[in-house]
Amino acid sequence: MNLQTLRETVNSLFTDNKGLLAMDESTGTCNKRFAQLGIPQTVETRRAYRELIVTTPRLGDSIGGAILYDETIRQQKSDGTTFVNVLMEAGITPGIKVDTGAKDLAGHPGENVTEGLDGLRDRLQEYFQMGARFAKWRAVITIGPSIPSWGCIEANAHALARYAALCQEEGLVPVVEPEVVMDGDHTLETCCEVTERVLRAVFSELFTQRVVLEGMVLKPNMVLPAMSASIQPTLDEVADATVNCFLRSVPAAVPAIAFLSGGQRAELASARLNAMNTRFKSRLPWELAFSFARAIQQPALEIWNGCQANVAAAQRALYHRALCNKAARNGIYSSDMEKQ
Ligand code: 13P
Repeated sequence: MNLQTLRETVNSLFTDNKGLLAMDESTGTCNKRFAQLGIPQTVETRRAYRELIVTTPRLGDSIGGAILYDETIRQQKSDGTTFVNVLMEAGITPGIKVDTGAKDLAGHPGENVTEGLDGLRDRLQEYFQMGARFAKWRAVITIGPSIPSWGCIEANAHALARYAALCQEEGLVPVVEPEVVMDGDHTLETCCEVTERVLRAVFSELFTQRVVLEGMVLKPNMVLPAMSASIQPTLDEVADATVNCFLRSVPAAVPAIAFLSGGQRAELASARLNAMNTRFKSRLPWELAFSFARAIQQPALEIWNGCQANVAAAQRALYHRALCNKAARNGIYSSDMEKQ
C-alpha cells in the first residue's frame, strides 16, 4: 500500500471545497428513478443520462470525484470517448461502487448485510486498470422496534473493514458508507444514538483489519429524525447533533467526512451541510463534505425527463446544485443562491 498515493487521491476529491457526485445507482435503482418520471428504462436511456451528467460544462469546478457503477464505467459518450476519460479531462477523479447490494441477513428479520467480498480483489484490480482511484461500499442500517441488532451492526462493520483493507492494498481510496436510513418513525435522539453505536463498531473493525485511517473517507448519514417524523429539527439542531455525534466516534486521523443525502430535499441537504460548516468548520479535524446522489441529481433528472431537447437545461440544474454544495462546504451557501 502506498499511503502517499492514497492521500493524493483524497486531496483530489476534496481540494478547493469540492465534493463527490454519486452517480452509481445500480441498474435497479436507476430504473426505479426513471420509472417514477415515466422515462424508458433501457441501457441506452441510462447511458444517455450518464452522458448528460459527465459532460456538464465546468462540473469540475465543484466536483472532485464521481462514483460510477459497473455498467457506467464501461460506457462511452456517443462519440466513443469513455466516461472515465471525459471525467479525467474535466479534472474529476473516477470512483466505483463495488458492493453487490444489501441482502437479507439470515436470522435477523428486517435487517440487511451488504455483500460483494468474494472476488473483490480481482474486481478492484480491473477497476484500477480502467482508471478508478477510489471505491464505495454501502451498508444499510435500519431503525425499528428492537433493531438494529448487534449482529447486523457487527456483520456490516466487518464487511466494510474487509472491503476497505482490500481497496487500500490495491491502491484505491475506500469510501466507507454505513448508512442509518431515514425510514421509520424514530427521533433525532434515536438516530444519534444508533449512528454513534454504528460508527464505533465500524472504526473498531477498521482498526482490527489494519485500515489506515489517513487513506480513507467516511460517508455517513447526517443525524436526523425519520423522514416521516412530525417535528423536524432546525438547521442548527441538525448541525449540533451531527457534529457532536462524530466528535465522539470518528477519529481525527480520518481526512474527510462526505455525507450521503438519504432522500432529503436538495436545498435542505445543502442548508444542513452549510450550517455544520458555518458553526464548526474552523474547529474540526476532518473536512465536512458531500457525496450526494439525489440531492445533486434529482432536479436535473426531472428537467431532462428523457428528452434530448432538455439536456442543456438539466446540465445547468446539475451544475447549480453542485455549486450550492461547494458553497455549503465553505459555510457561504444561502437560500439566495437558489434564486439565481
Ligand atoms: P443519496 O445522496 O441519494 O442518499 O445517495 C448517496 C449514495 O451514494 C447512496 O449509496
